[in-house]
Amino acid sequence: MAQNTNTEQDRVLIFDTTLRDGEQSPGATMTHNEKLEIATLLDEMGVDIIEAGFPIASIGDFEAVRDIAKLSKTAVICGLARANPTDIDRCWEAVKHAKRPRIHTFIGTSPLHRTIPNLTRDEMADRIHETVSHARNLCDNVQWSPMDATRTEWDYLKRVVEIAIRAGATTINIPDTVGYTAPVESADLIRRLIAEVPGADEIVFATHCHNDLGMATANALAAVEGGARQIECTINGLGERAGNTALEEVVMALRVRNDIMPYRTGVDTTKIMQASRMVSTVSGFPVQYNKAIVGKNAFAHESGIHQDGVLKNAETFEIMKPEDIGLSDTNLVMGKHSGRAALRAKLSELGYELGDNQLKDVFVRFKELADRKKEVYDEDLIALMADSSTTAANERIQLKFLRVICGTEAPQSADLTLVIDGKDQQVTAQGDGPVDATFNAVQALYPHGARLELYQVHAVTGGTDAQATVSVRMEEDGHIATGQSSDTDTVVASAKAYINALNRLIVRREKTKPGADLQSVS
Ligand code: KIV
Ligand code: ZN
Repeated sequence: MAQNTNTEQDRVLIFDTTLRDGEQSPGATMTHNEKLEIATLLDEMGVDIIEAGFPIASIGDFEAVRDIAKLSKTAVICGLARANPTDIDRCWEAVKHAKRPRIHTFIGTSPLHRTIPNLTRDEMADRIHETVSHARNLCDNVQWSPMDATRTEWDYLKRVVEIAIRAGATTINIPDTVGYTAPVESADLIRRLIAEVPGADEIVFATHCHNDLGMATANALAAVEGGARQIECTINGLGERAGNTALEEVVMALRVRNDIMPYRTGVDTTKIMQASRMVSTVSGFPVQYNKAIVGKNAFAHESGIHQDGVLKNAETFEIMKPEDIGLSDTNLVMGKHSGRAALRAKLSELGYELGDNQLKDVFVRFKELADRKKEVYDEDLIALMADSSTTAANERIQLKFLRVICGTEAPQSADLTLVIDGKDQQVTAQGDGPVDATFNAVQALYPHGARLELYQVHAVTGGTDAQATVSVRMEEDGHIATGQSSDTDTVVASAKAYINALNRLIVRREKTKPGADLQSVS
């Protein structure tokens, strides 16, 4: 059976790759500060290893990994590198600042993936030995992954895993890159590797599953049954295509069904909701209502029979308590007479701990909202916090003023002032409806070639004075960015969401300037 760093056989390490595999999801671009905020929370909540990015991918990625490494407290900070010395050196330059750094290097080992670098089996085996040895000379914590392991021939997989262990890898990760495996096979693969590869009992085996067939969580848990002691996952299951194993699902499954899966993680589950909201906000990927653990309906009981049962005894229809994941069971209404102390207490209950300056700023926004809306619910405050974190003061484009004329008589028009790179710019534009007029006005002030792919509005709470949350997705030269914003005025929320997406596209453009030529990894 595999060992782990604690040499406790029931301890499963949680390796979060939201900032690397999650961020690779088209449109999920995060800013530098957002990445730092997420990493801080992951560290606080007891995630064992944080994969902070792919340092060679861009200057932005490098700086994010380096700065996360500098501020990490307990977690191991890991960076990804392809199987070449330049990638590995760059990765080390970024992670070496951490108290506990790790280099993660990988190469595609399946027949299809071997054709990409055009290496024979023997040549690839040599490359693996050289690159893992190179990484191990720099860092004593090295993870190696045979990408597309679940479609790699068994004899070759066994051979390359043995080579990587001999070259000094301390963790061997077995990725199901295309979400192809199934639970029985997932458990069996790890079990056989541990049984048959010399040296396997000296290292940790990890499982990294994608959700293309909806089996990522089941496959990861099965791999643990087979002897893996590290699960790679992302918050909300964020990731390319159908995403990765969701952290909240594996952590809660191990906790709730500890009777049949007797393994422990070090994650403080009461921070799960906060992490889920933060990742959804900064990535612009809303969490589906019926998503396990963190979906809006995960603890909602609509039918009379269920409501009655839960009121009499919560265990009738609930296998875990909302408090276990940090959901407060109260929904105390706040209003314009609520003071700063009450707001601080309420936000803390929702998982937001604010410093004095941040509270001052949020309090001003809260008062503005309470003036427009009689009752401010938890959902309103969550939307307000999301808005504060997406509209950073250093964004290139900011909304200053908007007035629209709309109604039955065309043309509808928007009178808009934006602050672009610190300078006020004003325009009046027309369109087919107030939102179209507003977007045309933004285009007139900041000409761009991005295409609006998605525009979605949903009400945060009930009532005609409810806030609207608007999500937009834009595409430019194959790059996708999403933006989100909330306001009691739907057109203002639309303008802010559109500008938010544009700002993210600008960040994306910077990230993908020539020089960052990467093959895709999932
Ligand atoms: O899915 C995958 O194979 C990956 C590797 C880079 C570990 O993300
Ligand atoms: Zn992956």
